[in-house]
Amino acid sequence: MENFNIKNLVKGEPYFDHKNSVLSAPVRHLFMIGVIWYLATQKKISDVSIMEIGTWFGASALSWAQGLKEYLDSRGSITCIDAWEPFFDLDVHKNQKHVLEMEKLLESDLVYKVFLHNINTLPETINTQHFRGKSENILKFLKSDSFSVVFIDADHTYNYVKDDILNSMRLVQNYGIICGDDLNLQISDVDKNYAIENMNKDFINDPKTNKNYHPGVTVAVNEIFGEVSSWGGFWAMQKVDNSWKKFSLKDMPIIYPNHFNKSNIKKAQSHFGDIKDSLF
Ligand SMILES: C[S@@+](CC[C@H](N)C(=O)[O-])C[C@H]1O[C@@H](n2cnc3c(N)ncnc32)[C@H](O)[C@@H]1O
Repeated sequence: MENFNIKNLVKGEPYFDHKNSVLSAPVRHLFMIGVIWYLATQKKISDVSIMEIGTWFGASALSWAQGLKEYLDSRGSITCIDAWEPFFDLDVHKNQKHVLEMEKLLESDLVYKVFLHNINTLPETINTQHFRGKSENILKFLKSDSFSVVFIDADHTYNYVKDDILNSMRLVQNYGIICGDDLNLQISDVDKNYAIENMNKDFINDPKTNKNYHPGVTVAVNEIFGEVSSWGGFWAMQKVDNSWKKFSLKDMPIIYPNHFNKSNIKKAQSHFGDIKDSLF
């Protein structure tokens, strides 16, 4: 990473100042914290355990931790699964700046080292563990019904998203939540045929709306669930007696992640201002 030296990390202080360290739209972290508020308010689950597939620098993991801190006295567990190695198909994604930047960072192993630093800033009351490997090799070894929240944010091309969702559904306990990042548009918003033709690409422009989105996420989520609850591109469904239901985050308190720098907080505030009237 340019101008970055691992020795400059400060013990106990999370590091998210690198320009690529928070990849998703920062506003989505408000809804992740909101999911923990929802579970804590519902009181159907006593020990909240969170698993995420795709952790990168750890921004989402720390937002989950903040939800636990705000609503559950910093009690719960977080499991992170990530290979922390290059994963894009470069024949399909050649010349895409964000892809090449991510691949370079993953090759250097610094992303993994910064993740270790960041996750170690969490309080001891939150149990954390991580598995370094491909989700397709790890999920099958995890026990059914063992997580209250599974968050999917790894490879966004169709086959991977679909497998990550299908392999995760049995892992979610009753009243738990399956959710994911980067559902910028649902299938009813986009040109469906074009989405299907391009679903093995990471990020494309939709000819119907002229908006950019991840067709693999849009197609896979729709095939499995149909329309899902979604707030600014963060999607979720709740497992209720073996079926999957939409739910509302109405009345959730708005909390900005403590680990965000000023720029990410500003982006989240402005984005939240833009979408708040169309939410919940
Ligand atoms: C979009 S980033 C995750 C961002 C993170 N959730 C956050 O909000 O900060 C995607 C991550 O998924 C990981 N990844 C991609 N494909 C994977 C796979 N098949 N198994 C495990 N991890 C994978 C990459 O190494 C990368 O760190």
